[in-house]
Amino acid sequence: MTITIDVALGDRGYPVHVGHGARELLGEVIPDGVKRVAVITQAGIPWTVDPGIEHDAIEVPDGEEAKTLANVEAICRQMATAGFTRADAIVGVGGGVVTDLAGFVAAVYHRGICFVSVSTTLLGQVDAAIGGKTGVNLPEGKNLVGAFWQPSAVICDTETLSTLPTPEYQSGMGEVAKYHFLGGGDLDTLELDERVAACVQIKADVVAADEREGDRRAILNYGHTLAHAIETAGEYELRHGEAVAVGIAYAAEVARRLDRIDDSRVAEHRRVLSAYDLPFRLPASLDAGELIDLFNRDKKAIDGVTFVLDGDAGVETVVGVERDVLADAMEAIR
Ligand code: GLY
Repeated sequence: MTITIDVALGDRGYPVHVGHGARELLGEVIPDGVKRVAVITQAGIPWTVDPGIEHDAIEVPDGEEAKTLANVEAICRQMATAGFTRADAIVGVGGGVVTDLAGFVAAVYHRGICFVSVSTTLLGQVDAAIGGKTGVNLPEGKNLVGAFWQPSAVICDTETLSTLPTPEYQSGMGEVAKYHFLGGGDLDTLELDERVAACVQIKADVVAADEREGDRRAILNYGHTLAHAIETAGEYELRHGEAVAVGIAYAAEVARRLDRIDDSRVAEHRRVLSAYDLPFRLPASLDAGELIDLFNRDKKAIDGVTFVLDGDAGVETVVGVERDVLADAMEAIR
């Protein structure tokens, strides 16, 4: 059975199909009039798709390192050489690296062409593939060049999760854990398809309310301020979802110090992270002062350090958190 969630963005709205074998729906979701498809994927992804029309495969390298402007140029040049036009479409098949990169190519090739995501990782299905954030990294930081470019449809085939290496699946649970604190409640009691769909529904509602992250959408970055700093300081050695898990535990400690939540809510954060077998302690090799300095490089750091924090009104953005609070909370997750 497939569960369909609508991302309600008016004439740019689209369906997200979640379910075992949902990739079979690809032919149905390619918009009428598209003549040809560039399927962007990676050599190691053991799933093929059938768009039902003429298609060429373009492979990109593995890993976060593949999200470069050089690869955007390389893909655009392959598409230009092969004669793809504005009337054609890109289908990205893979995890967040593929859908971020392929989506960005779709945003800029011929000033924007149709894009469909077939997400094959847990992290991609509950986060990266939904909401139209596309982009690549610079040596100076992650996702510093990009565009909002909404797909025409997203397919989250939960069958593809069966071939995901365990650490990668586990890492995806870091993003799932985040949704417990964004109104998800007891997601850990649901079956996998329903759990993925519940996460997608929360994300779809947030994106529909604030597509371009004017304010509300920033709550999707719960746990990510520290996570991004850990990833930069650790040069991507920790998996993203694990870094988010540590970031969620840290955000709870910061919120506790600001009297936004009590001890039982901090304990609830640790309970959820433990339920998914996720870490909530900072790796010993990381220096707290360096991490706090990196918070200022975060894209949200417009007016002092901005944090997404839990509280009585739910998770929200808090501006200007002071350094001594940040440092004290860091000691609590050592
Ligand atoms: N991953 C956060 C967002 O899509 O806004």
